[in-house]
Amino acid sequence: MLEKLADIILRCKTGAVLTGAGISAESGVPTFRGDEGLWKKFRPEQLASMDAFLSSPEVVWEWYNWRRELVSKVKPNPGHFALREIEELFDSFTLITQNVDNLHQVAGSSRVLELHGNIYRNKCVNCNTMHDPELEIKPDDIPKCGKCGGQIRPDVVWFGEMLPAAVIDEAFEKAEKADVFISVGTSALVQPAASLPLIAKQHGATLVEINPERTPLSDLADFHFPAKSGELLPELMTLLKEKTTG
Ligand code: OAD
Ligand code: ZN
Repeated sequence: MLEKLADIILRCKTGAVLTGAGISAESGVPTFRGDEGLWKKFRPEQLASMDAFLSSPEVVWEWYNWRRELVSKVKPNPGHFALREIEELFDSFTLITQNVDNLHQVAGSSRVLELHGNIYRNKCVNCNTMHDPELEIKPDDIPKCGKCGGQIRPDVVWFGEMLPAAVIDEAFEKAEKADVFISVGTSALVQPAASLPLIAKQHGATLVEINPERTPLSDLADFHFPAKSGELLPELMTLLKEKTTG
């Protein structure tokens, strides 16, 4: 099956990949919805929402500081590196991620459409002015925006918030144009990201899913690989390289 996919990929000009928390699982970043997932231990609306920030900004910042520290200690895994390499096989390639952990960038992917922001960036809660990512945030003394006095918050998308318009618009455009669309490590439950693979398929893409578990996408996908992305993606890359050089 991998062989067949490799042959298809080599005939494709445009490719797009959507990643979710599962791509970073083998790096040691917890996912959201599994048995060990973050949303089993914490309630999203109490940590990742504007209401939570307005009522208890210190609690929200303690949680984001903990996650910042966690992701700063981990490294990209072979799945991230394989996606960094696969881009070279296409005339046009787009990597779209729901992750905020920055690991695709650390792995060297040239351009990443970050649908849900980036955990390292800071912005003003009122006027959205971007602030220094190096700013140290003490939860009991949160720095304020020099322009408007608003508190600094992480530049991530919270529950109930819109995704950055330019980013999601481009993601849909690239999904429509993709000859092959690969969904990796996402439960495919959170909108609007979950629509991207469907849009790609409707516009004629070969739809591929890499996920040890089944998701709402699995039955629609042309290929479902019930495997870990850190194992399957490098295998796919090796095969692709053999076929292109051999
Ligand atoms: P989820 O936690 O919902 O799903 C992670 C998926 O990764 C699951 O389907 C797992 O089966 C799969 N998985 C686990 N280990 C894997 C591995 N080694 N290789 C491949 N797949 C693996 O995470 P997301 O789908 O990313 O949003 O969640 C989407 C959004 O919901 C997140 O961006 C976040 C969350 O609430 C916001 O914070 C706005
Ligand atoms: Zn401001």
